[in-house]
Amino acid sequence: MDKQKAQQKIAELSSVLKDHNYKYYVLSQPEISDFDFDKLLKELQDLEAQFPEFIHPDSPTQKVGGDITKNFETHTHKIPMLSLGNTYSKEELIDFDGRVKKGLDEAPFSYVAELKFDGLAISLTYKNGELFRALTRGDGTKGDDVTTNVRTIKTIPTKLPPGDYPDEFEVRGEIFMHGAAFEKLNADREERGETTFANPRNFASGTLKMQDSAVVAKRPLDCFLYAYYGPSENNESHSGNLKRLESWGFKVSDAFKKCQNIDEVIQFIEHWEKNRSSLSYDIDGIVIKVDSYDHQEILGFTAKSPRWAISYKYKAEAAQTVLESITYQVGRTGSITPVANLKPVLLAGTTVKRASLHNANEIERLDIRIGDTVSVEKGGEIIPKITGVDLSKRPTDALKVEYPTQCPDCQAPLIRKEGEANHYCSNEQGCPTQLIGKIQHFIGRKAMDIEGLGNETVDLLFREGLVKGIADLFDLKDKKEELLGLDRFAEKSVNNMIDGVEKARLIPFDRVLFGLGIRYVGSTVAKKLTEHFSDIWALKSATLEELISIDEIGERIAESVVQFFGDPENVFQVERLEKAGLNFKSAPKEKAIGNQLEGKTFVVSGVFSKFSRDDLKKAITLHGGKAGSSISKKTDFLIAGDNMGPAKLKKAQDLEIKIISEDDFIELIK
Ligand code: IVH
Repeated sequence: MDKQKAQQKIAELSSVLKDHNYKYYVLSQPEISDFDFDKLLKELQDLEAQFPEFIHPDSPTQKVGGDITKNFETHTHKIPMLSLGNTYSKEELIDFDGRVKKGLDEAPFSYVAELKFDGLAISLTYKNGELFRALTRGDGTKGDDVTTNVRTIKTIPTKLPPGDYPDEFEVRGEIFMHGAAFEKLNADREERGETTFANPRNFASGTLKMQDSAVVAKRPLDCFLYAYYGPSENNESHSGNLKRLESWGFKVSDAFKKCQNIDEVIQFIEHWEKNRSSLSYDIDGIVIKVDSYDHQEILGFTAKSPRWAISYKYKAEAAQTVLESITYQVGRTGSITPVANLKPVLLAGTTVKRASLHNANEIERLDIRIGDTVSVEKGGEIIPKITGVDLSKRPTDALKVEYPTQCPDCQAPLIRKEGEANHYCSNEQGCPTQLIGKIQHFIGRKAMDIEGLGNETVDLLFREGLVKGIADLFDLKDKKEELLGLDRFAEKSVNNMIDGVEKARLIPFDRVLFGLGIRYVGSTVAKKLTEHFSDIWALKSATLEELISIDEIGERIAESVVQFFGDPENVFQVERLEKAGLNFKSAPKEKAIGNQLEGKTFVVSGVFSKFSRDDLKKAITLHGGKAGSSISKKTDFLIAGDNMGPAKLKKAQDLEIKIISEDDFIELIK
């Protein structure tokens, strides 16, 4: 099977399995036997094993909770892998210092300040000088056994040279990928048309979770060790053990410092805040630990983290570079996005060449000129943004930005509605970039998910005059001869494409509506609208007031819908699509299944393995509960999945809201 097919098949199987999970756990109406379910699951597992780059964290093969996956054996950590309390402020750091001093009865003590490596934690057990087991952090109590993969990491010794280490001990550290390797591998992936990783951390963790160690071996992972757990002599200290680890052959960063007080710690923090871009890997802060093990023991732990350590997290990293030019991109809705082309600069381990400037207001706010020296920031893993201009470095010939008045593609005049930040190309029915973008949106995964048709093909078909709008896709079956005449088109690929288009008739109304690409009508809004209106014609006749009266539909969306149906060309396209057999009718409403959740409000957050977030929300309402969107005092339960935002979690903990897993939820509605 080729890569593209495999990727499609994996997506298809994941979605089918999730649907069966939903029918089984929520509706209690399984459509297939356990045996058939397991067969599908096995098929997905096998495919993912062959094409691990397409394993999605929310694949039904991946178990919920921490980073435990079904494909690895799990083991319990001898000592739980806790996390660290963290702070972004020096004041809180001083408070921490106060607590430590108090806890130690004002006795003299020292800290060790270390880099906080941005990768994934690993626990390594050695027996008789040999690597015995490598476990991921998992949920802190149990982790995945990734020993085979870890053995391929060159800087982790599988066998230690003779030394004075104990027969059995554990070391912990962080596995990561260097920025340069990340960029190269990601560029290779992009060239091959594969999905790219957002940052080195994701790449490292994706790699470690692969089933095929031969592939892991080809990816340059690295590891710094930062903790030792094993027999130790009296009066041992953390800094002493870091040195011992190094002498035994482990890679320990030499950028750690023993500090006599919190001021020295702050100096260390400030030093690395300035210099972290000189490192070949990402750090996201500094970890501060009380050095003496005796002192650590006195201070002890809270339920989640040690009282003797804290991490100071850096805010987004910034760098300075020169703005060389601005290009203007046209989106599928005609919105114009100015993009800054920058002199390449290294930022948080990756080279940044472009940054979004959002809109004309932003350019005005920054008073940015071509040739200016600008500050670029990267917050987490998103596209970098320009945060300021260094006026002291402005060259005398810096050019003021003239915001275009015409579309960079079709030269039609740009318009800007009152109160809106964005400019739009006014040529909605004729601008090639918009038209191509609309078709590409229509065939996309969240919309019609048309197999055998990709963005490049759409581009080609448009440029060859074979499709001008989405409805033309349904006439392709009558244009086989012309299609076969195109470069790179064989009988098989043409048939696949036509089959793929034919299957679109089975897609439910909300996805078709989303696929139409009405401005501000995303998948959630499309769902809301199709729940309210019985079919597209009822939606077309709705007044502004009626639309606004629907929960979560605001004026902006309502206006956009009315405007869409006010354009006869759009109505004509919808009529053609309906004739072609697309589904423009809402499914009859699902009847309530039970009232177990009556009076209870739930918030769903994170990524789940059995259901999609929407399915979970549906299940809540079908069982009499309410699905809220943000955590408040009124929330009774938070259903937490993987990769949940830390802010949400903290809020839930602060408000003492019950946090439950997907499986706990299933128990509740049983
Ligand atoms: S010590 C009990 N030291 O940061 C605390 N952690 O929440 C043990 N990390 O995922 C952690 N660099 O993997 C420690 N020098 C360092 C670290 C470090 C990165 C990670 C660790 C964990 C998180 C702490």
